[in-house]
Amino acid sequence: MVSRVIPVDSFDLVIFGGTGDLARRKILPGLFRRYASGQMPDEGRIIGAARSDMTCDEFRTMVKEAVEEFDPKSAKDTENLEKFLERVFYVAVDAKGDGGWKELGDLLRPDMIRAFYFSVAPSLFGTIAERLKTFELADDDARIVVEKPFGKDLETARALNKSLAEHFHEGQIYRIDHYLGKETVQNLMAVRFGNMLFEPLWNSQYVDHIQITVAETVGVGGRGSYYDTSGAMRDMVQNHLMQLLCLIAMEPPAKFDPDAVRDEKLKVIRALDPVEPHHIVRGQYSASEKCASYREDVENPRSFTESFVAMRCEISNWRWAGTPFYMRTGKRLKARTSEIAVVFKDAPHSIFGAEAGVHRNVLTIRLQPNEGMTLGVTIKEPGPGGMRLVDVPLDMTFAEALGPDAEEVPDAYERLIMDVIRGNQTLFMRGDEVEAAWAWTDPIINGWTNRNDVPKPYDTGSAGPDDALMLMHRDGRRWREIKE
Ligand code: BG6
Repeated sequence: MVSRVIPVDSFDLVIFGGTGDLARRKILPGLFRRYASGQMPDEGRIIGAARSDMTCDEFRTMVKEAVEEFDPKSAKDTENLEKFLERVFYVAVDAKGDGGWKELGDLLRPDMIRAFYFSVAPSLFGTIAERLKTFELADDDARIVVEKPFGKDLETARALNKSLAEHFHEGQIYRIDHYLGKETVQNLMAVRFGNMLFEPLWNSQYVDHIQITVAETVGVGGRGSYYDTSGAMRDMVQNHLMQLLCLIAMEPPAKFDPDAVRDEKLKVIRALDPVEPHHIVRGQYSASEKCASYREDVENPRSFTESFVAMRCEISNWRWAGTPFYMRTGKRLKARTSEIAVVFKDAPHSIFGAEAGVHRNVLTIRLQPNEGMTLGVTIKEPGPGGMRLVDVPLDMTFAEALGPDAEEVPDAYERLIMDVIRGNQTLFMRGDEVEAAWAWTDPIINGWTNRNDVPKPYDTGSAGPDDALMLMHRDGRRWREIKE
């Protein structure tokens, strides 16, 4: 299979917060990989903008070190790395004042695509948007990229949307949810809408239930002050898990175009029922021999913030009424794995008799690691001994199916930044989508606060609190094992 790298048009990309953690870990190494692959054109330029006084050369050294630290393999391509660094610039900017904006303007070239990446605290989004307009650095074609957290509830999200809308129209605002940039997430749409096989079965008549799991082994150490005011519900469910749920549940859009896709996702969010308190379990990880507890990690001995959530959701529409969607996510779990499992109903009648056992088809979409899909099908166990049935996986691990090209698959940030330059908003969240997601999440979080809900402790390296297992057992179902 041959991968096709189509270069994007020339651009000036300004990264506010260019010296920050996200820029160093993800954005800059990602841009370098796109340069080395031939997708970022020679006329593409990256301008770091931050508070610190720094020369271009000092910033280039920082970028080089960031690539070496966070992508040592790609950094070995020293020839391309040197060429890439020639396309990197820096200007010190005072986001709230006047300093540096004129110098930034002098660096920007006319008639180039302009993109401004706000890799800064959300409290600065509105201010930077305003400064860009005041200093006439952004015309109607310029794009701005904003990161989560996009608000902490409906009210703050609305305020953020409003402050951006004062200076930019919706077609210019790229709200990143990096889960949408993951290869398999897009494959989910390809599988659903590119094949005849699944779509007729994709409804409550044939699907028993759907499980979405995003499990992590890491704790929250190092990000404690942010995380403790957020918790798994705001940090993961309101955005990443809900986006996955939307892509699984949405109706086929008329075309693969930004608003057609986002309209369908929005309808799913709006059709979500409120979640009953007994359909949701919160957890908080305890200490183990090697790892500190959540409370130690966030340095808050009385914290009631959750590092784990499991819930049962229902979508009230024609396609899904009666099919539960179970979602769970947590830190310090048994393994790092993200997957979606579509569990089909049992065959209505077994012609093979009771001894053949119960078998069901499960379509598993693995987001990470080992991206790929598996369809569990039932076949006859080979050999003599009568008709014994066994479930085997039809396995499509991308690394195997695509061979060496699978390694060339861009990571989520790379893909999304290239989409910004192309002006394609399909994989970005629209303002109304974000607000609808908060409108659904807020009552759940408020309910916890009002009831002084205390999260259930769970062991590091486990599958979460026992109550989460019970959530499915009560329905006569079970979670899939969390394993790599
Ligand atoms: C981020 C969350 O958005 O996603 C983190 O803030 C989480 O808490 C991360 O660890 C998970 O992303 P990934 O791509 O590693 O699954």
